[in-house]
Amino acid sequence: MAEYQTHEHDVLIIGAGGAGLRAAVEASAGGAKTAVITKSLLGKAHTVMAEGGVAAALSNVDERDNWMVHFSDTMRGGQYLNNWRMAELHAKEAPDRVRELEAWGALFDRTADGRILQRNFGGHRYPRLAHVGDRTGLEMIRTLQDHGIHLGLDVFMEHTVLTLLKDDGRIAGAFGYDRERGRFHLFRAKAVVLATGGIGRAYKITSNSWEYTADGQALAYHAGAALMDMEFVQFHPTGMIWPPSVRGILVTEGVRGEGGVLRNKDGKRFMFDDIPPLYKNQTADNEEEGWLYTQGDRNSRRPPELLTRDHVARCIRREVKEGRGSPHGGVFLDIAWIKEKIPNAAEHIKKKLPSMYHQFKQLADIDITQVPMEVGPTTHYMMGGIHVDGDTQMSSVPGLFAAGECAAGLHGANRLGGNSLSDLLVFGKRAGEHAALFAKANALGSVNREEVAAAESRALEPFAREGPENPYAVQYTLQDTMQELVGIVRQEGEMLQALQQIEQLKQRAERAVVAGHREYNNGWHTSIDLHNLLTVSEIVTRSALERKESRGGHFRDDYPAKDENYATFNIVARKSASGGVAITREPLRPMPEELKRIIEENK
Ligand code: FUM
Repeated sequence: MAEYQTHEHDVLIIGAGGAGLRAAVEASAGGAKTAVITKSLLGKAHTVMAEGGVAAALSNVDERDNWMVHFSDTMRGGQYLNNWRMAELHAKEAPDRVRELEAWGALFDRTADGRILQRNFGGHRYPRLAHVGDRTGLEMIRTLQDHGIHLGLDVFMEHTVLTLLKDDGRIAGAFGYDRERGRFHLFRAKAVVLATGGIGRAYKITSNSWEYTADGQALAYHAGAALMDMEFVQFHPTGMIWPPSVRGILVTEGVRGEGGVLRNKDGKRFMFDDIPPLYKNQTADNEEEGWLYTQGDRNSRRPPELLTRDHVARCIRREVKEGRGSPHGGVFLDIAWIKEKIPNAAEHIKKKLPSMYHQFKQLADIDITQVPMEVGPTTHYMMGGIHVDGDTQMSSVPGLFAAGECAAGLHGANRLGGNSLSDLLVFGKRAGEHAALFAKANALGSVNREEVAAAESRALEPFAREGPENPYAVQYTLQDTMQELVGIVRQEGEMLQALQQIEQLKQRAERAVVAGHREYNNGWHTSIDLHNLLTVSEIVTRSALERKESRGGHFRDDYPAKDENYATFNIVARKSASGGVAITREPLRPMPEELKRIIEENK
């Protein structure tokens, strides 16, 4: 029989990145007794990897900006597979969420006349990213954390959730363990918000740290919720590639927003070679025009380095594949060149991009004010995730909400940089608010003790096994498989091979052995993470097989063109009655005429 401590709350938030904290603040302000569980330490979240800024049409730098342009940019970036309602709410509400954060103490960079400064980013028509140097996500987490703690949240750090619990179809809580001592905990709650972030650790090269093992997506899926758009994984074009120990660490798009350019080994700005028709009339066709744009010249068009991430990542891959890459298999990102253009360039770069300066100095012994960086694509973000209602963020399981990266809808086939931070503010707030309302309207569900006992014994199985199988080895093989076979460029044969390998890895995970005891046992934690990683890797692969075209973050060698027949539905995955993955195509909801008109006007 399971032995565990029991905690009772109105709202339980799983995940303490920006979305989780923003949801917790709102639930708590709504009068709900709220707890936050985080696998890691409070303040350590992938939110800090959104460095360059938070997108919001404040129109502080260019008064032509407004929610309608932001909405249109987001829809175009997502190749029109976005949940239009979420894109509308996001564009309308982001400015208030940013101003509110400022009122809670976030210190943004300033315009000369004292307003929040905004910078250029890929796919955004006007300078739209409110920022704090290149540490925007960090400042946001700091602010939300301080604010939340003062509201009296209960925080459970270093806790992992093993399973969600339901009572007669609706959510009743979660069961997990603390990583420090290995003791089990039952969290009873009237509503649960998943805000666990992404799936980056399914890939070998990633900007995500160890926590991002697809937990929320897998928990929701096993609880009966639908996952949507799971084929759309974002490969950020610029991660560090050298030395090997730091491969994948993010190099913010803010570098390109401040005038950084991409060159191949021959010194050529290869991004001019391939400008997608959708962006042709907005993109500069010569270096001088692109530079003038980054300097705020309104009559110029944006440099091709600020095209959407999916496109830039594929162009980099092409240069490397065709033998024009940098010595360590990437390309050059050059911000040092701006010394030809402005006085005191080195000081300017250090002021605008302080973290990048230190990151390269300390990790690669490179002074980015003097020489170019070597960069290459890194798995950064999951556009797909838990299918939620756009207004409330509730999933198909009553009482189960999701916000931020683990939820789907806002970004469609490709996310614009900076829209992740505004996403988590807008929809974190909405999820917290509606979770608190749900908790008010419902009593605590009862907990099925047998389900809890089964989750406990499953978690402990690896200690009882014997044999050579090592959980880390399984995870490394999975990361190789996903990187090689379900990466930036995909094709049917390789993805079928990936499915076979995932099946074998599932069997190996069932044999994984853990030695020692339950206190801080990382091997044990990994053996548990594997279930989520494998579940979600299979879903990503099956969804990617289903989409026989190329769109946004999903590019297929065997179907390289966009196919308009695929523009009318999302791909949705559910757990079938037999326990397998059931994939369906679900039609997009018709868009109101008013929103269609806005998109047309902003084309
Ligand atoms: O490049 C960056 O600073 C990342 C931003 C984002 O993912 O939104």
